[in-house]
Formats: sequence, C-alpha cells, structure tokens
Amino acid sequence: MSRLTDLIARARAKDAALGEELEKEFKALSSRRSFGLNFERHKPENVELPGRPIRKGDKVNILPQRGSTKKGDQNLWKVLKISKVGDVRVAELSQLGVDEPDVREVQVDNLVVVAEFRDYIYPGLISTGKVERGGDKPYHTVINGENFHVLEALTYTHRGKIDLIYIDPPYNTGAKDWKYNNNYVESEDLYRHSKWLAFMERRLKIAKDLLNPNDSALIVTIDEKEVHRLGLLLEQIFQGCRTQMVTTVTNQRGVARGQEFARVDEYAFIVFVGEGKVNENSDDYLTSDETASKQRIDIWNRLMRRGTDSLRQDSPRQFYPIFIDPERKAIIDVGDPLDVNTSRDTVECPKGLKIVWPLRTNGDEGRWTLGAEKLRLYAKRGMAKVGSYNKKRDSWSISYLISKDIKRIDNGEIKVLGKDENGVLLLELSDSISRKRLPRTVWFRDSHNAGTYGSALLKNFLPGKKFPFPKSLYLVEDMLRVFLEDKKNATVLDFFAGSGTTAHAVFRLNRQDGGRRKAILVTNNEVAAEEQSTLKKKHLRPGDRDWEQWGICEYITKPRIQAAITGKTSQESSVKGDYKFRDEFPMADGFEENAEFFTLTYETPVAVQHNVSFKRIAPLLWIRAGSQGKRIDKIPEKGWEVVETFGILENLDQSIKFCRAVKAQKSLRIAYIVTDDDRRFQAVTRQLPDSVEPVRLYESYLSNFRFSMGR
Ligand SMILES: C[S@@+](CC[C@H](N)C(=O)[O-])C[C@H]1O[C@@H](n2cnc3c(N)ncnc32)[C@H](O)[C@@H]1O
Repeated sequence: MSRLTDLIARARAKDAALGEELEKEFKALSSRRSFGLNFERHKPENVELPGRPIRKGDKVNILPQRGSTKKGDQNLWKVLKISKVGDVRVAELSQLGVDEPDVREVQVDNLVVVAEFRDYIYPGLISTGKVERGGDKPYHTVINGENFHVLEALTYTHRGKIDLIYIDPPYNTGAKDWKYNNNYVESEDLYRHSKWLAFMERRLKIAKDLLNPNDSALIVTIDEKEVHRLGLLLEQIFQGCRTQMVTTVTNQRGVARGQEFARVDEYAFIVFVGEGKVNENSDDYLTSDETASKQRIDIWNRLMRRGTDSLRQDSPRQFYPIFIDPERKAIIDVGDPLDVNTSRDTVECPKGLKIVWPLRTNGDEGRWTLGAEKLRLYAKRGMAKVGSYNKKRDSWSISYLISKDIKRIDNGEIKVLGKDENGVLLLELSDSISRKRLPRTVWFRDSHNAGTYGSALLKNFLPGKKFPFPKSLYLVEDMLRVFLEDKKNATVLDFFAGSGTTAHAVFRLNRQDGGRRKAILVTNNEVAAEEQSTLKKKHLRPGDRDWEQWGICEYITKPRIQAAITGKTSQESSVKGDYKFRDEFPMADGFEENAEFFTLTYETPVAVQHNVSFKRIAPLLWIRAGSQGKRIDKIPEKGWEVVETFGILENLDQSIKFCRAVKAQKSLRIAYIVTDDDRRFQAVTRQLPDSVEPVRLYESYLSNFRFSMGR
C-alpha cells in the first residue's frame, strides 16, 4: 500500500465522505498516463455551418448583428420551434449546457447551425469546377471543408489506401493562425497547447486509419512552438511505428528573436508505417556540391576484400594471382586460385609483367572480392582495371565495378563514353550518376527557401494575391520524392492544404517520370483575420457569397491549382517564370493533369430519410473507385449503370444485365449494390468477377455516410 492510500484509509476512518472523495480523485489521477503527454481533451470541438438551412432540433449559435465586428454571443442554443411573424421567420431557442436554460426568440437569419464533433454528420460533396488536361489520368481532388469531417468521409473512400500524408498544420504561433471552436487561439490563451493537441489528436487518429498499414508514411511539419509536444503526440498515436525528425533550413538569413539565436529552420516529423521507407536519392540534401563531387568521382571499388572473413583461408578460391603490365597499367591475365597449402612463391611471373596478390598492409595473405572466373569476365568487358601504385610497398591495387553500378550501366543511368587503350570502360561522371544515397536528417538547400520558392513563386500563379507562409514548392517535391519515387500510382493526402503546394509538387513528380500519382487536398475556406473585420464592417457574414469568395480555398487554393495545370492565371495571361532545379521549363507550359474541386456539404437527417441526396454522395463513390473516368450522378430509370471504374445496381431484378455489363468493362474496380437485404447482396456478389470489389449501399443512401465523433 502506498503512503497515499494509507493516508486516504485514515481519512476515511475519520470522515467517510471525505475519504471517498479523496479516493475518487486519487483514482482519476493515478489512471492517467504516467509518462508522455498529459493534456485536457477539452470540450468537443464544434463547427459553424453557414448556409445550412435552420430546422427544428438544430444546435445553433446566435450571430452578431450585421455590421458588428464583435465576437457575439458565445452560448450554444437548441431550436425548439420556428414560426413566421409576417414575412420573418423566428426561432424559439433554449440555451444548452446550463442547468437553468435561458429561452429566447431570434430571427432565423441571425442564426447559424453548429455541428458538435460528437454529433452525427452526413457529409456529401458538390462539385464546384474542374480542370482537365490529363486525358485518362485520375483526377486530383481539392475539397473545401472542415478537415475533421472530410477525414471522416475519406474513411469511406480511402481506409488503408493512402500512401503518403503530408501536412503542414497551423503552428500555434498565437498570431491568429488557427481557430478552435470558431475562436482564434491567441498567445495569451492559457489552454493554447492543450487545445492544439486536442485538435491535432482528433485528426491524426483518423488519418492513421487512412494510411496503408503495410507501407506508407506520414509527414508533419512544425516549428519550435509545438515540436516537442507534437513528437510525443505522434509517438502515442502511432505506437509501434518508427519515427524520425528532419530539420529543414527554410530561411538561411534567419528570423531574429531579440538576443536569441536567429531561427533558420523548421522540422518535419516522419512516421514510417509498416514497411514504409525512404528511397535513396542522387542528392542527400545536406552534403555540399563540392564535397559531393569529390565523393562522386570514383565509382571504381577496390577488389581487395576488407573487414571480416577477409583472409586467404576464409575463402581460398579467392586467392589467385593477377598479372599486370605495369607500364601500360593493364590487366593481362588472371591466374587460377591456389590450393591453401601451396605457397604463392610457386607462381612464376612472365617477363615484363608483375604479379598482384591480395596482400594486406601488414603482409598477411588476404583475398579478392570476386572469384577468378568472374574477374576474367569483368576484365574482358572493361569492368576491372589496374588502380593506383604504392611506391613504399611496391604494390598495385586492382579496381572493379560493383554489380549495382553495372546495373545502372545496363539501364542507361550511367553512360558509357567508350573504352580506353586497355579496353577499360570510360564512364560519364556527371552529376546525374553520382551514387545514390540516403537523404540526411538535416536538409540545407537553396531550393527549400520558403520566401523565394514559396511566397514569391506563388505570386507567379496568383498575381496580386497574398497567402501566409506557403512552403517551398521544391522542398515539398523533394520530400514527396523520397517516399514516392518508386510509387508511380501513389495517392497523397494533405488535409491542411493551404495554397495547394502539395498537389503542385505531385504534378512535378508525375511530369518527371510519367507517373499517375494523385493528390487529395483538403482545406477550409477561412478568410484571413484582417480581412474578416473589413468584411464584417461591410455587413457581410460567413456563408454570404461576397464573404466566401475571399476564403483560402476559393481565393487561393483553387486558382493556384488551376493556374499550375493550365499555365494561365485567372486573368488569362500566361504564368510568368520558369521552374528550376530538377526539371526546368516555363511555368506557362502547365501540366497534363486533371483536377476537380468539391465543397463538403452537411446533409440533414430529413434529406437522409427522404433519400433525396444521391447526387451528393455520387462523388464519394467515384473517388472510392479511383477518381477516374466518368461519374454516375444519377441512377437511370433502368435501375443500374456502369462506367469505366465502377457500377451501381439499384434495381436488383436487373442484376443479370448489370453483371454482364460489369464483366465487359475491364477497368471496373467496384460494384455498388443498393439493398438492405444481405441475402440478395450476397447473391449478386457471387455473379461478379473476382477482380471487382462488391460494396453494399443501404437504400437510404446517406446512412452509408453517417459519421460521428463518438466512434
Ligand atoms: C500552414 S497552412 C498550410 C500551407 C501549405 N502547406 C502551403 O504550402 O500553402 C495550414 C492551412 O490549413 C487550413 N486549416 C486550418 N485548420 C483547418 C481545419 N480545421 N480544416 C481544414 N483546413 C484547415 C488553414 O486554412 C491553412 O490554410
């Protein structure tokens, strides 16, 4: 028994009620995590849904009067009744979350629906435009919405299917860069860290379900404000996964912080899921060009075996003489291996030649890396040569090419310029053939500068517009390449998309290697803080068209993606400037890619019951099937439809025709079957080809998409 439980027992003996209270508190405290991150989960987040019609039973906020810049009423209300007074609709409200609720009557126009994160939501998507230049390539999707709810919706379309998540969340700087429950979290807020953690934890937990458990990765960028807390949070959520942190220099000039160190860097946490790994790359992002070129010069390796098992007796077949012409520095012949008990002195050296033995610096007999037979072949093909001469020891070294580099010669990665007078290959030692290596944990490259290749570059695509702190396009491109170079069909998700740099980087990767990777971007349509008060003074509110057009998604993300693909700004002029580094070409060329823009909608339970919202879930069905080809926005009279990647069967009496059409459509991946009857669903499933995934949809469509925070 601990000292504390002993004391509680004594208190209980004196005063039972006090003892009980103390024990309860003690239990609560001791059930908390003893190590790691302790933080309040906070009252559930909520989100205002401007534009959603107000109905009886809804939770609402009362908006400040138009024209006011005040925060307004902070209470949550429930609509008890709506009545009409003349032309005006008035709601009777009752206050929520208090013992003695206030009751009020407020004009419906001054209310906004609120979804608490523990409430059920029925998400839908409506298309708000597209850009098409990519032929039959899959579409990138940009979704305007609260990312928590979009992530929930993505669990229907992408559970376990995402190859890489790259996010750059608000850094919690206190500079009005993010909101918790509709209010900016400022630096004086005592709960700012726990609010940020609660906010991130909710989203990361769903994100985890979206990642491919066998092979994927999560990248989260952050700065010094939350780096430590984020590290612990990731460790807690992604237990059992490997985690690393990369420091990226994003502003070499440094941001002064009084008499402290000037900050030049940011961080990126990497969580490796399953077999997730980084690829070797021609740049390690740290080594200077000068050092790299020194390291690059020699891809010829010493034939002498080093390290363990490197003595003659360890592998006698690899102890043999090599006859060289010291004048011409040429391999003339390769002798046979010697029996272990035969002395090397028994081998005679032809006149004018020299014998090279695998001798170690201390004179011991070592061994070669290759067998004699293989070396003969290498010498014949010019892949082995006489190396340097050591005057002191009067010895020669022999070099050869390792099989990894021979493969690179075979696949054209290393160019052969010809052969020298001894028949040895002359290789092109250009930048592109420098040996690939693992990227380092510190990245220091000019191309990663956020000012030049983030903010300034963005201006080319969005002349006259400003967006705070976009990432360098080339930094994001390099990060993605490290994980996706070998995954040409990868799906990348960024649910804090901001200006859309991640999709832009995916376009570049695809162009470099003909990939068909697709990006899913999610961002809200937040209007910048200073702009908000200007708009409020103009009597505007969120939800008004003239307000929403200034939001990030509408004003920045969509036009940027559009301009990047078309090469034209929204003013229809060609984008000025050229891309740099890996792939240099005019920005005006654009990319051969497709993208579609969506807005997340919140359907009402009434619509769900009356089944009026098929159109709103149609994009989700299409996205689940790979965002490619045509979409089915309406089920035709015949009760079924089949397009390139999926089909829908609503009238099960038509299943024979449907299955026939499915079989004929070779690229089809998913068959959605609408029925509440499991037996009938199974019966149709049996008639489908094995390559087609059968997915059941309830007849009341939207109930398939019912999500709740209380999961
Ligand atoms: C730091 S920015 C990302 C910048 C981006 N990496 C770039 O290069 O442009 C974070 C973005 O997340 C968005 N955001 C913040 N909270 C969000 C939420 N709950 N749902 C959706 N988007 C959110 C903000 O609007 C902001 O644009």
